[in-house]
Amino acid sequence: MNSSVFSQIALAPADPILGLTEAFNADTNPAKVNLGVGVYQDGSGKVPILEVVREAERRWQQKEETKSYIPIDGVPAYNKLVQRLVLGENSEVMASGRALTAQALGGTGALKIGADFLKRFFSESKVYISTPSWENHRAIFEAAGFEVQTYPYYDPKTHGIEFDEMMSALKRLESQSIILLHASCHNPTGVDLSHDQWMKVVEVCRERKLIPFLDFAYQGFAVDPESDAFAVRAFAESGLQCIIANSFSKSFSLYRERVGGLTIVTADADETKRVQSQLKRVIRTNYSSPASHGAQVVALVLGDAQLRVQWLEELSTMRNRILAMRKLMVARLKEKGVERDFSFIERQCGMFSFSGLDLEMVRKLKAEKSLYIVNSGRICVAALNENNLDYICDAISEVVR
Ligand code: LMR
Repeated sequence: MNSSVFSQIALAPADPILGLTEAFNADTNPAKVNLGVGVYQDGSGKVPILEVVREAERRWQQKEETKSYIPIDGVPAYNKLVQRLVLGENSEVMASGRALTAQALGGTGALKIGADFLKRFFSESKVYISTPSWENHRAIFEAAGFEVQTYPYYDPKTHGIEFDEMMSALKRLESQSIILLHASCHNPTGVDLSHDQWMKVVEVCRERKLIPFLDFAYQGFAVDPESDAFAVRAFAESGLQCIIANSFSKSFSLYRERVGGLTIVTADADETKRVQSQLKRVIRTNYSSPASHGAQVVALVLGDAQLRVQWLEELSTMRNRILAMRKLMVARLKEKGVERDFSFIERQCGMFSFSGLDLEMVRKLKAEKSLYIVNSGRICVAALNENNLDYICDAISEVVR
């Protein structure tokens, strides 16, 4: 018998988020709605190409002179502009050469090269993620070889944060533990720490000598890009070393172009050079160097005063539409006689609502209504619109009764 070398390979489970998109695409029900993946859709249900992106692409097409490789760590101008957007225009950290930024394949790619980099130098460290966290966090750090554990975060009873429990857990961590934090628009809960709470987390990281790793995928979706950078800048300016993964998938609606960055804040300019050289090795042995197009587009926008203003406007249009849908959803559920209190949806921020729908409800909504929701009950509010809201609210009101 000729048995295949692959015969022992078992079928992997579908991805908890992107697997839903696969199932959604295969569904023939015309009423179907994908409330799973975190992708912004406009009022007509389309994932838009921003006008500012079209303009930058037009300009870049005229400017581009070669398709030769870009550097291992990406487009230099892009890296500078990303650093400025993340750390702030007048960042002392930047001025003193205490930060390096490498272009990455979206936020996920940034997490991955960050995880691989850390594994090389902190192989014994454990990684701590919030309860709950984005489904892929655990997977990425486990794939890099880390043991991943959790710290308390969300309290389903209050729809707030178990801050005391979180702090006590952090205070017990061994030094050099890697703590994964969501810089803004916590995914999946939409509940962020207050400024005071962030400052306390900075202090515990200092006391316990932890390694803070901030996932910053939704800059501009809570208040605006500057305000949303509070946590990142609090860490960067604290004198601690920290790591920041940022993404333009959402804020530029550039999902498929895979544009993000990894910024590492160091102790001094010499350390920056050494860390950068090692990060470049990680990138080179993963995919050699990133693609150019998306980063050039972002760089063109961030580097041009007028285009930048246009981007901020388009970003606020996205943010405001999501806010409006939050309000409308809460009101519509009430109108339909749903007694359960969903008012917390209005207080959450970013693309998601941690709805409190349980697994049985989520399964029922998928099987009977073709509504695709992450098993945790996370709903992408950015997929709601005036045309599908009634259908969604009717379906939810049926299952929560
Ligand atoms: C999400 O959380 O839905 C997004 O970040 C997309 C993804 O890659 O999971």
